[in-house]
Amino acid sequence: MSVSSAQHQAAILLQKGGPLVVQLRDTPKPGPHELLVEVHAVALNPVDHYQRDVGAPLVEQYPSIVSSDVGGVVASIGSEVQSTSLKPGVRVVALASSFYYRGAPNYGALQRYVVVRAECAALLPDSWSFVEGSVFPLATFTAWNGWKFTGVPPTLVSAPAGAKKEVVLVWGASSSVGTVAVQAAKVMGYTVYATASAQHLDYIKSLGATRMFDYKAEDVGSQIKNAAKEDGVNITKGYLAQGDQQLVVDLMNELKGQEAKAKLAIAPLVDPELKPPETVETTFVLPPADVAERNQWCSWVFNAWLQENLAGGNLVSSPKIKVVEGGLESANEALDELRAGVSCLKIVVKL
Ligand SMILES: NC(=O)c1ccc[n+]([C@@H]2O[C@H](COP(=O)([O-])OP(=O)(O)OC[C@H]3O[C@@H](n4cnc5c(N)ncnc54)[C@H](OP(=O)(O)O)[C@@H]3O)[C@@H](O)[C@H]2O)c1
Repeated sequence: MSVSSAQHQAAILLQKGGPLVVQLRDTPKPGPHELLVEVHAVALNPVDHYQRDVGAPLVEQYPSIVSSDVGGVVASIGSEVQSTSLKPGVRVVALASSFYYRGAPNYGALQRYVVVRAECAALLPDSWSFVEGSVFPLATFTAWNGWKFTGVPPTLVSAPAGAKKEVVLVWGASSSVGTVAVQAAKVMGYTVYATASAQHLDYIKSLGATRMFDYKAEDVGSQIKNAAKEDGVNITKGYLAQGDQQLVVDLMNELKGQEAKAKLAIAPLVDPELKPPETVETTFVLPPADVAERNQWCSWVFNAWLQENLAGGNLVSSPKIKVVEGGLESANEALDELRAGVSCLKIVVKL
């Protein structure tokens, strides 16, 4: 099949419930503040199969294109892009946020050319493959949306190793979001306690956690409380990437010790039955709703923090990666595999 330069291949969601169908579509031009990215790798996230299978959250038009995490090369830029480094030919990772555009097909990642906001892109150093870089955008954004709520200051100045003794807790640290939440906290100079299943404890430690706990152990709460007592610390900042929300809320209430309040950021949908005491503030992790505020926040997370830490070698690709060859034609199968459940694994479709 010959492909005209004004068209490209895309895995298109023609109707609610899928499947994705690979078809040609017109290649868009980026808007004033946008980049057109030639996509080389797409890392999959749970929201992608929800959007394919259920339409929720926020697919409100068909045809649509789902998925958000890309690694690729900038093909062209909009007239108002301020960054001097984001220019045609540079390698980037980016958040292609179709869910902010109600599923508008130009903004979904599973296609050869995708439109992204310039604020949502970070330069990818040559030492990183597109596959390795593609795992970061949504996980980094989600990690930071949560850490910011708990009071981790969004600053590029990380504390020197060992300078800050404050301990934070990451629950479900072998998930995609959890692994990056661990790395981000470590980079920001915190001491990290984390939970995962037994087979992943050493791996999460290698990402920067200091103390690891098997969340399946019956006495996991006591183990964490004993460790905090031994280390002489209270814990007031928590991140739940996966796991039993009531258990973690109750644990945070104890780990805060004499402090007035603990804060727990929750990445999965909040359990409607969850009953946090007044002393534990919880939130469902979300970026700012106001568009201007969100764009500014994205610029800090991607143009600044992620870019600097990728370039500085302060992050490693996580969790472990399974590459799916076969390009867009393999996207349905890859999403089915993710839906069936993964353990410390990121599925990445290589285009
Ligand atoms: N709010 C947002 O903006 C946002 C953004 C992205 C994702 N999310 C949500 O955040 C959650 C995490 O996403 P993800 O992509 O990181 O997930 P994921 O990688 O698919 O999560 C899989 C991991 O979850 C762990 N896990 C399962 N049950 C657990 C439990 N009871 N306690 C502790 N860990 C447990 C498993 O650990 P083991 O294999 O070690 O058992 C596995 O490694 C999902 O619910 C996702 O929908 C929210």
